[in-house]
Amino acid sequence: MIYFDHNATTPIDERVVEAMLPYLRGLYGNPSSLYRLGRIARSAIDTAREQVAALVDAPASQILFTSGGTEADALALACGRGRRVWMSAIEHPAVFENVLRQAGLYREINNLGVTSAGLFAPETLDELKPDAGDFISLMLANNETGVIQDVAGLVERAESFGAIVHTDAVQALGKMPVSFRRLGVQLMSLSSHKIYGPKGCGALVWHENVRLQPLQFGGDQEQGLRAGTENVAAIVGFGKAAELARLELEQRQARLLTLRSRLEQQLKTIPGLVIFAEQAKRLPNTVQFGIPGVNGEMLLMQLDQKNIAVSSGSACASGSEQISPVLAAMGVEAQLAKSAIRVSLGKDNSETEIDQFIDALKALLVKSGDNSL
Ligand SMILES: Cc1ncc(COP(=O)(O)O)c(C=O)c1O
Repeated sequence: MIYFDHNATTPIDERVVEAMLPYLRGLYGNPSSLYRLGRIARSAIDTAREQVAALVDAPASQILFTSGGTEADALALACGRGRRVWMSAIEHPAVFENVLRQAGLYREINNLGVTSAGLFAPETLDELKPDAGDFISLMLANNETGVIQDVAGLVERAESFGAIVHTDAVQALGKMPVSFRRLGVQLMSLSSHKIYGPKGCGALVWHENVRLQPLQFGGDQEQGLRAGTENVAAIVGFGKAAELARLELEQRQARLLTLRSRLEQQLKTIPGLVIFAEQAKRLPNTVQFGIPGVNGEMLLMQLDQKNIAVSSGSACASGSEQISPVLAAMGVEAQLAKSAIRVSLGKDNSETEIDQFIDALKALLVKSGDNSL
């Protein structure tokens, strides 16, 4: 099978599995227990915290483990309750659904628009003039287009207004350098399964000057901010995946860029094909394109029959006929947006797979001459 959907999830790295296994077998202690078995689990969590902290250049004490990126976003957004919230029009549903479905908890909700290249321009804040204490959410890299936002530029301006900034760095992590310190945000969301770690694990990185609002209550785990016995094996796996991502980042980035250039060069030989946000700074693994007159969902299913996995937008939107809100926010015409296919490459993909994908795509498009797409 050719797997080209790494922004949806990544296959777990074998080295990560090896690191996790002891905690699924003999080392089953509860990290809150005082005897040796408990202390071993506690120490494994501490190590994982250091590993994740090292990947994002943050103090380990400011990493809070969660059940994934969605919970990290929810915890971050809880800090915006009672405040005026500004969120970009291209946020993941884990951000925008969380805010919109609990609209009553926020003083006011505002949208931050993006350009046709999918970029939010930080200078627009000067006109919008957020109040002190307002809450802004802008993702670091978009899951569909791969466009990388100028979050540091936003923070610089937001600081002058006294606003709090959250960034969802779930897609950026492991694909580009991510420094919590240099970005200057107060809150940052991470997820393990996008970096070859296990599913159901993530983290919120937070600055000491924000007061986190727990979403669940019970035990004193995670400094009393996230009650519930820790998922030790998954946290260990996330830590290992973070360590590998840090050590291999440069090599992975270079490899992905080589693969993506090959893919884009060949895609561009297809008449009419448009690469969305082509000119913007994008993640090295992501290409989203549209082909006029083609139905993206149908094309996805036909590629699936050839054992090739791609996405027609964000995984959450797949299966519905709605057009991608991200492409809509960029002003992409509805018909072209419906043809969108996202290819997101991974560290283990090869040149041969790119060539096979292009051959399969071209063959299907020729067939579509007789309206099969
Ligand atoms: C940008 C972004 N944020 C949040 C999430 C949710 O992360 P998780 O699946 O770990 O809950 C995703 C997953 O697709 C994502 O792409």
